[in-house]
Amino acid sequence: MYTGLKHLHVLLVALSVGLLILRAIWLMRGSALMQRKWVKIVPHVIDTALLAAAIGMVSMMPGLNQPWLWEKLVLVVLYIGFGFYLFKFAKSTGAQIAGLIGALACVATIAHLARSKMPFILG
Ligand code: HEM
Repeated sequence: MYTGLKHLHVLLVALSVGLLILRAIWLMRGSALMQRKWVKIVPHVIDTALLAAAIGMVSMMPGLNQPWLWEKLVLVVLYIGFGFYLFKFAKSTGAQIAGLIGALACVATIAHLARSKMPFILG
């Protein structure tokens, strides 16, 4: 069960990041695809399922005394913040690129933490 959830979690992470990059490209090109209903809905469905799989795994863990997990959560909040900035507030292409780079840097660090389980600060 745990392994199944982990595979699902990683698959949803890949879909989530892939869609983030695609949407960022469409945004910067001013593409009409950004107005499609599915483009507005599907990312939220994927991110909710990603989180649900994560919560499922966390509920099966022996305890929450796992510093890497707490650091990961802080970075997830930062990742959401960069995404929000990119799609809602960044007005110039430069600002949008900065938002995208920030979000991708968070994802890379999150994935590194998830794999190594070696916290940067709390360890
Ligand atoms: C952008 C968001 C996220 C990304 C990019 C991400 C990435 C990953 C990756 C790549 C793995 C697989 C690690 C491995 O190969 O061993 C993983 C596992 C895991 N993630 Fe996430 N994750 C995200 C969000 C979350 C959240 C919000 C939570 C907690 C509420 C969470 C909890 C977990 C847990 C418990 C595992 C399993 C660790 C293990 O047993 O090896 N993840 N995550």
